Amino acid sequence: MNTDSHPFDAITPENLVERGSWKWTRFPGTLPGFVAEMDFPLAKPITEALSTSFDLQRFGYLPQPVAEELKEATADYVSRTHSWAIEPEQVYLSGDVLQAYEVVLRQLITPGSPIIVPTPAYMPFLTLTTALGHPVIEVPMLDGPDGRPEMDLPTIADHLAGEAELVVLCNPHNPLGLVYHHDELEALATVVDDAGGMVFSDEIHAPLVFGNHRHIPYATVSDQAAQHSITAISASKAWNLPGLKCSQLVVTSDRHKELLAPLSFIVSHGASTPGVVASIAAYRDGGPWLEDVKSYLSGNFDVLDDFATNHLPGSGYRRPEGTYITWFDARSIDIGTADSPADYLREHAGVSLTDGALCGEAGKGHLRLIAATPRPILMELLERIAPHWVRHN
Ligand SMILES: Cc1ncc(COP(=O)(O)O)c(C=O)c1O
Repeated sequence: MNTDSHPFDAITPENLVERGSWKWTRFPGTLPGFVAEMDFPLAKPITEALSTSFDLQRFGYLPQPVAEELKEATADYVSRTHSWAIEPEQVYLSGDVLQAYEVVLRQLITPGSPIIVPTPAYMPFLTLTTALGHPVIEVPMLDGPDGRPEMDLPTIADHLAGEAELVVLCNPHNPLGLVYHHDELEALATVVDDAGGMVFSDEIHAPLVFGNHRHIPYATVSDQAAQHSITAISASKAWNLPGLKCSQLVVTSDRHKELLAPLSFIVSHGASTPGVVASIAAYRDGGPWLEDVKSYLSGNFDVLDDFATNHLPGSGYRRPEGTYITWFDARSIDIGTADSPADYLREHAGVSLTDGALCGEAGKGHLRLIAATPRPILMELLERIAPHWVRHN
């Protein structure tokens, strides 16, 4: 088990409350695990770049050469890390992945067309999609061999044969922690291509893959996949920069490029100048920090493996292949009159986790826990929930 001590272990809840994130201030007095961000300090190359920006008061509108620098750094990063050959001109900057998603819905598909979302899903793919006037078709994941979830491709194909045009792919997957294999992505690409559909590939967690798992960008599985998909990436999850507002949309289809051309200014207007500066530093020089964080997260997963086996019966916990997001079946908790296990545990155990029902019908009775926290805090959180987990058989 990789649980050697690390400077992150010394970070306390008091330090994090003082830092003042939404995660640590939303439910005072609880240990939070409901926001997908990390409780660790930033990588040094990023703080240095931001501190230079601060000294020079570089907070004006984004200069074109700095935008170009990020496009080049992104192309270089995906080539080095995922063997994905793209040109800097294929990279569009935007404020965040959800802003990029909104642009895709507004500009690239038929207004009001239903969107296929495999569930459980990252919550805004249900709420934002609906708010933008597109009905959501939830397609629950199926249990594959060894219980590893997999997409229900026949059902996705049926909906694509109807009015649906777009499938939301989340890889690595939030909240299930899956890193899709080449053959899984290829099979999806065949189904989508046969129906003339499209994929929004959210690869925001791509740098966070563990062990032997390798991130495969969807657009690389075939020419057809590149032509029928658009990909959103960002340094914000892996380097912990979500408040700095910067993501990248990788456009691999000429048709999408044409359709997006009128919007390219407005899209890149959303990326903040400090966010772009920080993302350049992350992609260019953030590798060693990320390796250290991944090793620490692996230690947290070791703790979770052990704890779930011994103290969370029936939780169906699976070690994440990617992301720092974990998922638990909590139906064995007796929640009394509470609306959900998350509500129950917030009140009775002093922990705030995500209610799985927010991730879709398939998530009811489940909990989402973000494991990117100092290990002593993770252990305290687990100790608090364990007594409420009862074995019913
Ligand atoms: C899978 C996934 N997509 C998108 C987002 C949101 O990203 P952004 O803040 O860039 O909109 C998150 C945040 O947790 C996420 O986990």
